[in-house]
Amino acid sequence: MPKILITGGAGFIGSHVVRLFVKEYPGYDIYNLDKLTYAGNLENLKDIEELHNYHFVKGDIVDGNFIHELFEKEKFDGVIHLAAESHVDRSIKNPMEFIFTNVVGTVNLLNAAKSVWKDDFQDKLFYHVSTDEVYGSLDEGGFFVESTSYDPQSPYSASKASSDHFVRAYHNTYGIPVIISNCSNNYGPNQFPEKLVPLFINNIRNNKPLPVYGKGENVRDWLYVIDHARAIDLVYHKGKVGETYNIGGFNEWKNIDLIKVLCKVMDEKLGREPGASENLITYVQDRAGHDMRYAIDATKIMKELGWEPSLQFEEGIAKTIDWYLNNQKWLDNVTSGNYKSYYEEQYKDV
Ligand code: NAD
Ligand code: DAU
Repeated sequence: MPKILITGGAGFIGSHVVRLFVKEYPGYDIYNLDKLTYAGNLENLKDIEELHNYHFVKGDIVDGNFIHELFEKEKFDGVIHLAAESHVDRSIKNPMEFIFTNVVGTVNLLNAAKSVWKDDFQDKLFYHVSTDEVYGSLDEGGFFVESTSYDPQSPYSASKASSDHFVRAYHNTYGIPVIISNCSNNYGPNQFPEKLVPLFINNIRNNKPLPVYGKGENVRDWLYVIDHARAIDLVYHKGKVGETYNIGGFNEWKNIDLIKVLCKVMDEKLGREPGASENLITYVQDRAGHDMRYAIDATKIMKELGWEPSLQFEEGIAKTIDWYLNNQKWLDNVTSGNYKSYYEEQYKDV
């Protein structure tokens, strides 16, 4: 039975990837390794935790000895690496956490794979899940393609770019079979409400101000999280070793336009007067070094692996809003405790 290690499986994207693999591949043993930081939540996996092929390991990828021992013990055949510090605003306040987890943690995993796999790479794969932010910021035209030069602009994206470089270096130098994918902004159920979509859904519901950075004109390219998980499945099984795949749904939105869609749909769902939630929009100081535009050209994964998004944006947003409205307890749980002090500090002027 192949053993696959999925790191960061208690987080937003990781939990959807773990669920997909556990359910689609009952013949695989799936190990979810997660430190359970503020962003990791085992509630996300309640529905599958009893299944025979799912195993949870609590641990920190920054702890090299622990990672090495885990690999020695379990002899994983494959790794899908998602564990990371993932929020740009937090990276601006505290870059070191990002260097430890995203860079040192990734290199620890590569070292463990190198040491345990030795030179026997038959049916082995180290799949590193990365972001489009490594490519930097676009003006109005053009797209990120796989050969776009790296130009990270935030401590978060610099740490992810660094981890991507290490993954490629270990392939080139030691022959570790690797694949990298770089995806655009995800949205959907189980996302921690520090990120734009769940933060604004939660604030609209609670009639709290909607803090729009700058003029709200920055553009992001949005993909439903389950479509990202499907792409990861395809890349893991059909991707070519040594290659990079960009993942995105050709779905660009100016922040302010997306926010107005959230307000409109939520007014309808909450039975509010049309326009009521838009009154909550509050322009605040811009994010430092705020990237203007991201846009992924996903032609390669579409043509070579036959992937395409399954959901139209309108459907995805409606499903996402319904999920948060129906899971208020989940939101209340994750927004209590430490998150309260983060929120008060980050949005103190709002
Ligand atoms: P997330 O913040 O929701 O989850 C991260 C998970 O990693 C959490 O469960 C956390 O507990 C775990 N983790 C953090 N530090 C750890 C450590 N030191 N050891 C072990 N586990 C640790 O993140 P996400 O949004 O699900 O992103 C997952 C991955 O996908 C990241 O690598 C991110 O860079 C990448 N990505 C995210 C997006 C997006 O839009 N969210 C888009 C493209 C790529
Ligand atoms: O592009 C992929 C990346 O997308 C991932 O690698 C990151 O892990 C993920 O967090 C996301 O990064 P962004 O910075 O684009 O996402 P965020 O949800 O933080 O912000 C989206 C846009 O909304 C961005 O232009 C900043 C703006 N914004 C965000 C917040 C939290 C606001 O205007 N107000 C806010 O309060």
